[in-house]
This record gives sequence, structure tokens and C-alpha cells, in this order.
Amino acid sequence: MGSAVPAPVEAICAYVAQRTGTNLSRQQRERLARAATLALGQGDPLAFLERLKAREGARELAELMSVVSVHKTDLFRDEQQLGALKEHVLRELAGVGRPLRLWSAGCSTGEEVATLLVLLAEVGAHPGSTVLGSDIAASALAAARKLTFAAEAMRRVPEPVRQRWFAKGGEAWRLVPELAGRARFQQHNLMDTPYPFADEGELFDVIVCRNVLIYFTPEAVDRVVGLFAERLKPGGVLVLSAAEPILHPRTDVETRRHESAFFYVRADPTKAKSAEPPRPSAPPRPSAPVRPSAPPPRSSAQSPPPSPSPSAPGPISGEFQVPLTPEDEGRRLFGLVLDWAAAGQADAETEAGLRKALYLAPELAAARYLLGLLLEQRGARADAASEYRRALALLEGGRAMPSAFFLNNERLFAACRIALQRLGYR
Ligand SMILES: C[S@@+](CC[C@H](N)C(=O)[O-])C[C@H]1O[C@@H](n2cnc3c(N)ncnc32)[C@H](O)[C@@H]1O
Repeated sequence: MGSAVPAPVEAICAYVAQRTGTNLSRQQRERLARAATLALGQGDPLAFLERLKAREGARELAELMSVVSVHKTDLFRDEQQLGALKEHVLRELAGVGRPLRLWSAGCSTGEEVATLLVLLAEVGAHPGSTVLGSDIAASALAAARKLTFAAEAMRRVPEPVRQRWFAKGGEAWRLVPELAGRARFQQHNLMDTPYPFADEGELFDVIVCRNVLIYFTPEAVDRVVGLFAERLKPGGVLVLSAAEPILHPRTDVETRRHESAFFYVRADPTKAKSAEPPRPSAPPRPSAPVRPSAPPPRSSAQSPPPSPSPSAPGPISGEFQVPLTPEDEGRRLFGLVLDWAAAGQADAETEAGLRKALYLAPELAAARYLLGLLLEQRGARADAASEYRRALALLEGGRAMPSAFFLNNERLFAACRIALQRLGYR
């Protein structure tokens, strides 16, 4: 924060940031400082801070916290990830035939809750299935409870889904009562414990927390993921946005990657741990097409197929090797790095994997973004900012290579900008 901000206001801002787990951008700090100055008025700063920390200051604290919150959301936000969630997670769970328990943590104005209710209905989940929506912001929750949405928030909802599960009233669309009755809402700060249960001590099948942790400090992210894992049934699924991958080794969750998305699964101590993903050999020279002598085993769940490339050589007759261009190899490696990270890989090896992927495919903006994230989490803020900037330059120049299972380039662009703001650079 600039030196113009008086120390007492700075102390109030630091407390609000800590209570929300937020890594405040410069703009958020400035907004918060203005709001804190107003709220403080002529009062005694120390007394004000003590009141914020105590129960009677809850309303003032909530107001200050709402100044730094970002509530942007949409129905069916990130269709690619939701499609994978529907087909690979919810459909399988629905087959079990019991009521399912889902939680949208940081649900903002309720669009994600409605989306999950629709997806559950579409896969034929038990009608007793429920979705809990929680958020720190009371104002967002008040809107969420209505489960009624403006046309703008509905733009990604496929027409048949809209017709089936929403009713139009004036300019707004209301979720049909049959589904709306399966939602429950609760105000909850993800920095506070205890965390909610699904129902009287019941754990969740799926927890969705997207586009919330991207604003959090690395320490807060680690803590929140651990607390989510404790509220998941063994084998239950945690859904984070693709912009918020887990890059530190953890024992409580494992990565489950599909062709178009990746999720985290609460480790089930009764089941043997899945084999560690294969590691690549030293990077070949990037100038020549790569024909690894012993390509690691691939499976559709582990690795997207290489896209056709005009420079890719055809198969050599009599050989059973998969011909890969350096770019394909870089993409494949990038996918594996994500798997390793949550499978207990040390940070240094994850970093080496990302750097290898970038050596092979320098225009893989998603890998550059992840490298930035890893460096940021290690405290190397200037180096992290440089990687985010390089990713942005690739995206702005239209040279960024897409990645099948990660963010699309538009969302990656937004993630890089948020990351630079978080570091105070923009
Ligand atoms: C950008 S919205 C994401 C909404 C939705 N999950 C989505 O992806 O569309 C982020 C939400 O997280 C909430 N939030 C921020 N910090 C929080 C915290 N510490 N505890 C709970 N919710 C928080 C904000 O109030 C906001 O509504």
C-alpha cells in the first residue's frame, strides 16, 4: 500500500485481508483503504480494530470484506469442465442410487448452485440429492436464495436445458421449484472453522470451489484445500477452477485427469494408492521432431491425444512408436506435471517438468502460467510476474498454444491478469 495510507488504516486492511485469506491487489487495497477510512471516521483506530475482531463488529467486517470481493459468475460457467464433471463424476455417482450431497463454496449469487442442481437432474440423480451454497457475502447470498437469474447470466445455458429447468417471469429466469427446493444456503467464511457438513455430520460427495481461491494467498489455499478434503467422503471429488491447480505435494487429495478437465479426489485410505505417473527422460533438442525411444504409457484419461500438426512426421512402418513433435511432447509433459504435483512430487521436480515442457513448446502459455504460480507460491514474486507477463504476451499476440484440458485462452488471459494484480503489478 502507498505510504499515504495511515498506519491504523493499514492495520485494518491487513486484518480484513487475513480474515478473507485474500492476497489483495493494489486496486483492492486502495478500495479497502478508502472504505476503512470512511468506516473509521473520527473514531479510535485501535478500538475499531478490536470491534472488528469481536462478534459485535461482524456487520462492519462483512461490509469491509465485501469491498474486496469479486462476485462475477454465470450459469454453466466453464462448460468444458462442467461437461467432464457431468459425464465422469456425476453420472457415475448417480448410478449408485442414493441422494448425493454437493457443496458450492463461494457460490456468489447462486448461478453455480443452479447449474449443479440442473446437472444432477440431467444425470438422473436421486431426487433427494441436495446442493449447499455458501459465501462470505450476505448480499450475494440474499440474491442466491431467489435462484432467479437475469438473461445475461443465462447466455451459456443450452436451449433445451433452459426450457426444461427454468421458467421465465418478466425479464428473469427462475429455476423450477422442483430443483430449487433441493438447494440450501449458508453464510460461511472459508477462513473460519468448523466447515459445514452436508447434513448432521454427513460428508459431501462433491465440493465445487471455483474462482474463489485465485484471490487467496498460497497459505490460505493450502489450508482451505485441507479443510475441504476433511469434508469429502473418501473418493469424493473436489472441483477447483483450472486456474487454481494444486501444485504442492499433498497426501489428502489425488489428481484425476480427463481429456478436458482435471479434478481432485479425496484419497481413500482403504484403497491402494494409484501408481505414480511416469516421468519423462531428459528433453530432446527442440529443433527436430521427437521420437522418444520409449514413450511413457499413455491412457486417454492421462493424456490428450496429440493434435495433428503439418510438421508431424507420419508413422514409420514397422515401428510402434507414437511420433510426437516437440510441441506435442511439451503438451503431454505439461499434463503429466499436473498429475505429479498433487501426487506428491517435490516442487523442484514439478518446476523442472514445467521448464522442460516450455523448452519443448515455448508457446504453451498454460504451462508458463503454472510456472508463474509455482514461483509465486515459493515467494519468487518478480520471477512469477515475469512468467505471467510472458504468458500474457503470447495470448495477446495470438501465439499461445491451446491445451485441451486446461483453461481456454480467454480464461487463461483473465487468470494471468488476476495473478499480476494479486502481485501488485497492474
Ligand atoms: C468470483 S465469485 C465465484 C462464483 C462461482 N464460484 C463461480 O465460479 O462462478 C467468488 C466468490 O467467492 C466469495 N468469497 C471470497 N472470499 C471468500 C471467503 N473467504 N469465504 C467464502 N467466500 C468467499 C466472494 O464473496 C464471491 O462471491
